[in-house]
Amino acid sequence: MKKAKAPEKIGPYSVQDCIGEGSMGEIWLCHDPSLDRMLVVKRMQLALRGYEDLVQRFNREVQVLAAMNHQNIVQVYGYWMEKGLLNLSMEFINGWSLRQILDKSNTFPPWVACSILWGILNALVHTHTRKFVHRDLKPSNIMVDFAGTAKLLDFGVVRIEDQEITIPGTIIGSAAYMSPEQVRGESVTEHSDIFSLGIIAFEMLAGRHPFKEDSAEKTTRNILSREIYPSDFPEDVPPSLRRLVRRMLAKEPSRRANSAYACLKELDSIMSGLPRELSHPLSSWLRSVRKEMPFPAAPRWKKSLPPLAWLAIATGIGLVAGMVLIAVV
Ligand SMILES: Nc1ncnc2c1ncn2[C@@H]1O[C@H](COP(=O)(O)OP(=O)(O)O)[C@@H](O)[C@H]1O
Ligand SMILES: [Mg+2]
Repeated sequence: MKKAKAPEKIGPYSVQDCIGEGSMGEIWLCHDPSLDRMLVVKRMQLALRGYEDLVQRFNREVQVLAAMNHQNIVQVYGYWMEKGLLNLSMEFINGWSLRQILDKSNTFPPWVACSILWGILNALVHTHTRKFVHRDLKPSNIMVDFAGTAKLLDFGVVRIEDQEITIPGTIIGSAAYMSPEQVRGESVTEHSDIFSLGIIAFEMLAGRHPFKEDSAEKTTRNILSREIYPSDFPEDVPPSLRRLVRRMLAKEPSRRANSAYACLKELDSIMSGLPRELSHPLSSWLRSVRKEMPFPAAPRWKKSLPPLAWLAIATGIGLVAGMVLIAVV
């Protein structure tokens, strides 16, 4: 990564390292001596000064983050102007971006994918309830901390109800994770976030992007027309999970899984055989990915019997009881 020249201090914080350099500015890892804790400052690049719309986008990210308070969404601490630069301070997520994890390990056991999906769906329910649409869900905007919690970040291109910010020459969202309606330039609602998360879910489960090819044109064409079938998933993915991801990837927003909350409810029943608290096993799994060690044992995924099986068991018991009764009488 190209490193920007580190300032010694940003506000009252001492600067430790540049941990990201993106579209809007640099991300600095800092130390707050008053509380003796690490934090992150996202800073608008000097060269971008004067670009009113980018400043507006930065301001938007701050306002949206400030309105949120959720364990699966990065927490904002403060916002100030200093020497003509805009600074946004926030919680330091000590972990890896989902992009880094996918690049290191493209075989996510289904329970790991479910656990990350669970966290991000919770973040989306919180976001959508506040009438925000993220619009840029992709693996580099999701982090998993080393304690095993998935976090959503980068609310820079969020859309608030009917307000739209467009930046000339900039594509809103990343082509490979766009929904069909985003590709077509139509109005974007929370259904679009569900499609993007469906792509991420598929990528975690299958170890490959469902639509990506060597050019943006081919990729967007696939987003518009390539259907995903149950047979596209690896064998160890339960049919109910395949069904959910395929519903998230429906081309027509009206046919797509209805809301993040509906997806969460469906995922809840898919995960019913798993322990509710998965951060500890997720943290161990992430450690094994980082250290390239064998995966730890998966949490127990109890297979629940389908309703028909229960009916057959009940009928069997009834028959045996009837026969015993007849024999006795
Ligand atoms: N709060 C944070 N804690 C730790 N790392 C972060 C944090 N925010 C961002 N990063 C890192 O910086 C990268 C870019 O951050 P992001 O907010 O997505 O900026 P951009 O607008 O440049 O895409 C992330 O993928 C992540 O690796
Ligand atoms: Mg980003």
